[in-house]
Amino acid sequence: MLQIELAGLKLRNPLILASGILGNSASLALRIEEAGAGAYTTKTITKDARPGYRNPSFVKLETGYLNAVGLANPGIDYFSEELDLMKKLLKIPVILSVGGKDLEEYEYVVKVGVEHGVDAFELNLSCPHVEKMGAELGEDLEAAINIIRRVKAVAHGRPIFLKLSAHYNYLKLAEEAVRAGISGFTAINTLRGLAIDIYARTPILSNIYGGYSGPGIKPIALKVVYDLYERFRNVPIIGVGGVDSWVSALEMILAGASAVGIGSAIATKDLEVFREIIEGLRRYLETEGFRSIVELVGLAHEEVSNPY
Ligand SMILES: Cc1cc2nc3c(=O)[nH]c(=O)nc-3n(C[C@H](O)[C@H](O)[C@H](O)COP(=O)(O)O)c2cc1C
Repeated sequence: MLQIELAGLKLRNPLILASGILGNSASLALRIEEAGAGAYTTKTITKDARPGYRNPSFVKLETGYLNAVGLANPGIDYFSEELDLMKKLLKIPVILSVGGKDLEEYEYVVKVGVEHGVDAFELNLSCPHVEKMGAELGEDLEAAINIIRRVKAVAHGRPIFLKLSAHYNYLKLAEEAVRAGISGFTAINTLRGLAIDIYARTPILSNIYGGYSGPGIKPIALKVVYDLYERFRNVPIIGVGGVDSWVSALEMILAGASAVGIGSAIATKDLEVFREIIEGLRRYLETEGFRSIVELVGLAHEEVSNPY
């Protein structure tokens, strides 16, 4: 059985489309649902529209991708029309990824999200390549906690996930976030990286550096998920970073993730990757004698697999 409950959300399986992957239209979201995903995360949406960075903003590497899209998005007021359509078309939960440069912006986006019926929020305090946003805000413990408190006050009881970065002291932020009432964690966002064009003799990305994703970051994501589970047993984790097969999804779950985000793998394997992982997980449950995927969460932790 692959059904899970994630901070009160009911998912038919633990696979979630990661934020920023495959645009923001309701028709694409429906394709994600049809491909088998258990939930859909929007691209990070800010209060006002953001044009993002100039091209090149995406580079393929041997072990993943580097992107500096710059949180390009149409702004929440415009995007709310698409949210209405998503809520009409989709049966799976819609998680609104929220960004901003200060508390007021986060509050505004969440309020509009509530009005348009989103099922949960993911606070992006981890994007590595936008000044005064994302990871830069997450590094400022006081600012981050104030955002979480304010968002919680206006989220009308909907679950709030905090998306963390491996670049800062994520355990310290997580600890304060739990105290402020966070519902769960998403770990991790992309990692700062750089690519060089040896003939132009310049960095390839217009922004110089960007966020590194894909198989190369999986060991780092696994470590963050493992650390979070070790410290906060009862706070659900969405494990994201380099998952491109049922084996890597399972690694995340065994490290402590209740759900698994799929991002870059879609660029390499297309939407088929959802079915491939679902079938692999089902087979594993059957051959290894487990009844539910929930039984596997955190089993790589010694005292979980061996309580005596
Ligand atoms: C092109 C691209 C755009 C992204 N945009 C966002 C975003 O808007 N908000 C966010 O929180 N994460 C964003 N991410 C990060 C992913 O959600 C995910 O955390 C990261 O890519 C690691 O997972 P992966 O290795 O499976 O891709 C983006 C990633 C990529 C590759």
